[in-house]
Amino acid sequence: MLDLRAVPKGRAYEELDGHVRAALSGVDDPISAMATVSSLVHHAFGFLWTGFYRVVAPGLLRVGPYQGTLGCLEIAFGKGVCGTAAAERRPVVVPDVASFPGHIGCDGRSRSEIVVPVFGPDGDLLSVFDVDSEKVATFDAVDERGLTTILAWFAGR
Ligand code: SME
Repeated sequence: MLDLRAVPKGRAYEELDGHVRAALSGVDDPISAMATVSSLVHHAFGFLWTGFYRVVAPGLLRVGPYQGTLGCLEIAFGKGVCGTAAAERRPVVVPDVASFPGHIGCDGRSRSEIVVPVFGPDGDLLSVFDVDSEKVATFDAVDERGLTTILAWFAGR
């Protein structure tokens, strides 16, 4: 298992991107790819919850694949952090979930969160990638850049 917790974050994401690209080489199934990314990111950093909410209908996100405790099943665009990132098609970093109006709490231990949109080859929004941490202020611009780079695989395949 890849564990990057002792590695400085910027370098950790570079290393992780290499592992993701290697693991996804030859993969042509986006669900398998999402499962693989969830597992690698989750265990590399020891996050609380790591996974995708897929766009399954106009304005509607549905959970999966993911790693972690039970996630809520569906989120409408505009609701919570995930729905905000989907509606605005941009990453959202939340240093303290208690300060984000409308935050959807799936696991009471979550203290901070990042959600990054995932685009397909045509620029269509496929899903959002949500990562939750038990500590406040876990995520910053380094995570945003690192995750965005990893998730660019879905646009490039
Ligand atoms: N906190 C998210 C909901 C998803 S879970 O944390 C797994 C939100 O506010 O969108």
